[in-house]
Amino acid sequence: MSARPEHVEAASLEPGLARDVDYAIDVQGLSKSFGINQVVRKLSMRVKRGQIYGFLGPNGSGKTTTIRMLCGLLTPDEGRGTCLGMDILTQGRAIRRHVGYMTQKFSLYADLSVRENLEFIARIYGVPDAEAAAAEAIVSLGLEGRERQLAGDLSGGWKQRLALGACILPKPQLLLLDEPTAGVDPKARREFWAQIHDLAGAGVTVLVSTHYMDEAERCHEIAYIAYGELLAQGTVEEVIAGSALHMWRVTGPDPAALARELMEVPGIELVAPFGTSVHVGGRDRTALELAIARFAAREELVWRPDSPNLEDVFIDLINRSRDNFR
Ligand SMILES: Nc1ncnc2c1ncn2[C@@H]1O[C@H](COP(=O)(O)OP(=O)(O)OP(=O)(O)O)[C@@H](O)[C@H]1O
Ligand SMILES: [Mg+2]
Repeated sequence: MSARPEHVEAASLEPGLARDVDYAIDVQGLSKSFGINQVVRKLSMRVKRGQIYGFLGPNGSGKTTTIRMLCGLLTPDEGRGTCLGMDILTQGRAIRRHVGYMTQKFSLYADLSVRENLEFIARIYGVPDAEAAAAEAIVSLGLEGRERQLAGDLSGGWKQRLALGACILPKPQLLLLDEPTAGVDPKARREFWAQIHDLAGAGVTVLVSTHYMDEAERCHEIAYIAYGELLAQGTVEEVIAGSALHMWRVTGPDPAALARELMEVPGIELVAPFGTSVHVGGRDRTALELAIARFAAREELVWRPDSPNLEDVFIDLINRSRDNFR
């Protein structure tokens, strides 16, 4: 019997897959419905090996469903593609052997200790010396002193660290991390991201879903999905440049009231209060400038041209996608 890993065999069995070698994920036209609800629509994405790919979108937009299709846990109704060079339709089991999937909900055993959880995962994945691997993970995760604590009693940040540790224990080539930092404090998030970058530096590909804009900016590339449709993808700079939004920032008394007033003005498509100022934007530059000119007599307001940020772009995308969807 060959000792080669399964994905190498898969690639050599199907010559057509050889071109996919640079992509950890390469899928085309994935769709999925639950009952009458189509929750993922003709989604295509490519993630280069060793990249950190951010997956963003509002609640219920289809991120988790997509992640589950990528590792063969859900079968798409339409579409095809590969994950680590293996077919997502037929080789799910083999794919999952090389993928670390951190689910959106804490999915370790709450009534097992930290050490027991890690040893258990190591055994399931057939890691040769499970005890030694768990002990090593405890040190590398900084969990010494907590190894006997029940996983269910850990704080949110430590639970997340343990879950990531369990994911990487079998040394996967691809990590699918579904909102791994939800509810985690900024220091723990920062440490988490340093670890993700170390893993990517070592060649691991990471697909991470998040609602945090600062985390999107830490990714090599991002994708934005709404109503099951992939609306933008590329580097953060590319996504912002692709938006064609023109922005102004206006400062004045009572920004909340000002924001409500601005929302009613034709030509202004985007209004977002930010602290003491309001971010105002639109895609039609002339219409936007005409709208702003209406406020010229209001001396208490100070207007400055501004650049769109990622949040502006996403809000604009979802506004337009909602209109199309209706
Ligand atoms: N097994 C299922 N059966 C029926 N509907 C489902 C199932 N799984 C997901 N859905 C629905 O599919 C849609 C997309 O859900 P999904 O979990 O993929 O979204 P998400 O982008 O991960 O959202 P969130 O940011 O809240 O995690 C939602 O409307 C959800 O209710
Ligand atoms: Mg989800």
